[in-house]
Amino acid sequence: MIPEHISWPPGITTEIFLRDYWQQKPLLIRAAFPDWHSPMDHNDLAGIALEADGCARLVFEPNDDNPDWQLERGPLEEHMLTSLPRQGWSLMVAEIEKLLPDFAPYFAPFQFLPNWRLDDLMISAAPNGASVGAHIDAYDVFLLQGAGEREWHINTQPDTVCLDGQPLAILREFVAEQSWVLQAGDMLYLPPGVAHHGIARGDASMTWSFGARAPNARELVQAYLDDHQEHSEVNPRYSDPGLTQQADPGELPSDAIDKLIALMRSALNDETRLRAWLGCFLTEPAPDSEPPAADLPDSLQLLHRRTDVKMLFIENQGSKDCTLYAGGLGFACRRSTARWLSQTLVLDGEALAQALRDPQDRHVISQLFANGWLETVDD
Ligand code: SIN
Ligand code: CO
Repeated sequence: MIPEHISWPPGITTEIFLRDYWQQKPLLIRAAFPDWHSPMDHNDLAGIALEADGCARLVFEPNDDNPDWQLERGPLEEHMLTSLPRQGWSLMVAEIEKLLPDFAPYFAPFQFLPNWRLDDLMISAAPNGASVGAHIDAYDVFLLQGAGEREWHINTQPDTVCLDGQPLAILREFVAEQSWVLQAGDMLYLPPGVAHHGIARGDASMTWSFGARAPNARELVQAYLDDHQEHSEVNPRYSDPGLTQQADPGELPSDAIDKLIALMRSALNDETRLRAWLGCFLTEPAPDSEPPAADLPDSLQLLHRRTDVKMLFIENQGSKDCTLYAGGLGFACRRSTARWLSQTLVLDGEALAQALRDPQDRHVISQLFANGWLETVDD
């Protein structure tokens, strides 16, 4: 059964987790999913990896023949997976929920986090003793033991220097501060910046990493300016009517500096445009996920949200309506409809029938359908 909630340790609730742990400190959650049964094994993951193109990676630890770490990025070929050594490798497949829509419901226990903060599910497999090395991630991660066992060692105040010349960022020195062995169904939450080293125990170990990657300032500004350049006609130039002669023509005076800085800031100052851009940017689909165009069929009982589409909504300033963003596009929408659409993977029953009778809701659903973000069951 797919878990619906995290079973927090005694004394912890979702509110306490968010207040005291999220983005702050690690939390080990024993039996986070008490009835957990892994829906896949190493062979299944290998099969998925062959279809996963760029989402698959194979990591080899240094060994007697090769003193360096090795990283093979997908697409992986079958012979690579059928000729794996007995030890020292890890197979990782990211964006599982997009490759396999049946895995999207595994995000349900994390719905206490906003849609836009949740990133992807990566599943890894490794034989006894194997690891991807001690490293630091820049994002929050929930490390669920999917199958078998894994030792986790962490350090919350690590030395961040990495080994030179390796294809992965492996810490040069790592001293464990705390260690645990996780069994299937146990989960370890780590905020960004905590060094961690996971070592498989036994040959069935699989780790599910639910990642919540936040954008950084440079990514946001760069992407916004690229979009601005492509789509905005507005590009004011520095002007200086009433210029007076300077005593020193070689000086860039403070009033000109202030005006130049104000001009630069003006490119980032349009709040309405920035809000709309954020909605599009944070739901942008992967470059290769081209949606098929279609007209909404007349009679419909069931619609599925495609799992590779992120949905969020933003309240329109000064109004009760909002804009629903999906797959990098915005759609004008009632707040109640946006809440329903952004929280629901399967649209059916009276809620769907009622929405389809309402002209405004029907229009939003047709647009989502025409863009491929909602699909009928047969698709
Ligand atoms: C793994 O699953 O092998 C590594 C996950 C992680 O360290 O983030
Ligand atoms: Co990691």
